[in-house]
Amino acid sequence: MNTDTRPMRHFARRVTIRQLEIFEAAARLGSYSRAADVLHLSQPTVSMQLKKLADMVGMPLFEHMGKRIHLTAAGRALCSTCREVFRALDGFEMTIADMQGLKQGTVHVAAVTTAEYFAPRILGQFCHLHPGVDVSLEVTNREHVLERLRANQDDLYIFGQPPRELDVEAVPFMENELVVIAARDHPLSAQRKIPLERIVREPFLLREPGSGTRSITERVFREHGLRLQVRMELGSNEAIKQAVAGGLGLSVLSRLTLPPADEALIILAVEGFPLRRHWYLVYPRGKQLSVAASAFLAFALESARETAARSGASTNQGTRPLRRH
Ligand code: PGA
Repeated sequence: MNTDTRPMRHFARRVTIRQLEIFEAAARLGSYSRAADVLHLSQPTVSMQLKKLADMVGMPLFEHMGKRIHLTAAGRALCSTCREVFRALDGFEMTIADMQGLKQGTVHVAAVTTAEYFAPRILGQFCHLHPGVDVSLEVTNREHVLERLRANQDDLYIFGQPPRELDVEAVPFMENELVVIAARDHPLSAQRKIPLERIVREPFLLREPGSGTRSITERVFREHGLRLQVRMELGSNEAIKQAVAGGLGLSVLSRLTLPPADEALIILAVEGFPLRRHWYLVYPRGKQLSVAASAFLAFALESARETAARSGASTNQGTRPLRRH
């Protein structure tokens, strides 16, 4: 016999938002396993949390019919309660945002070219959350982003390497791996531990002068006393990929520029690669960020942290203080 004769009495204090989230997802998707997928949880975790929830309610929330689940009357009542709770929490979030001035405002971001593979998505999500805030994104190569930073033209700047020559705050927020790429049928594609000396015997494709990718690539080979045989300079990552795929030579690009599966390209197993770096959000030291810009900075950090958690990668930010470079 159930010793707790009035389980519902403590429901409000014992239930967690996470349990309600899991319940709402299972109810909406009609399946425990789909809820587990969407929330990036294991199915046993979902089952266990839903069992705890039903125990707290003291009544079943779902009827199981084969693989399908259906809400019981208690489940339907909890479902509408969930919606009210989430609506209230969303409302609270908006109230706070309004208090902080996020109903309006502007955020101007300038980012190096390679950041176009992730920055627009983060900005898009931010705009969605704060429709009243006007956001602009200028994408150009490192040299031009540096010029904009010197002229204090934007609120925030995204770099693959914070400028050492300027007095800035630089917040690392996402991993950035640079890899050596070749056409899939390149003779080196099957080799392991390819020495850097072997790479410089191949024709090489470089980004345009002023590119951050180019300067780090040149530096790595220079530091090893090696000279690249530059066959061609190209003004964009996409152009580089096409030329590499066309067999014109090797190149070094951020892994972010490569789709998960590319039929035409392969990452070579070169010693010392991938070069592990980070993306940084940068602003002049001492600059008072606007409410909207600070909110964007916090949002970008959180978004990167979530993406890394989903992909199992690591970020090195979190509780780290702002760093000066
Ligand atoms: P880029 O910069 O897109 O100008 O090459 C990338 C980086 O700095 O890592």
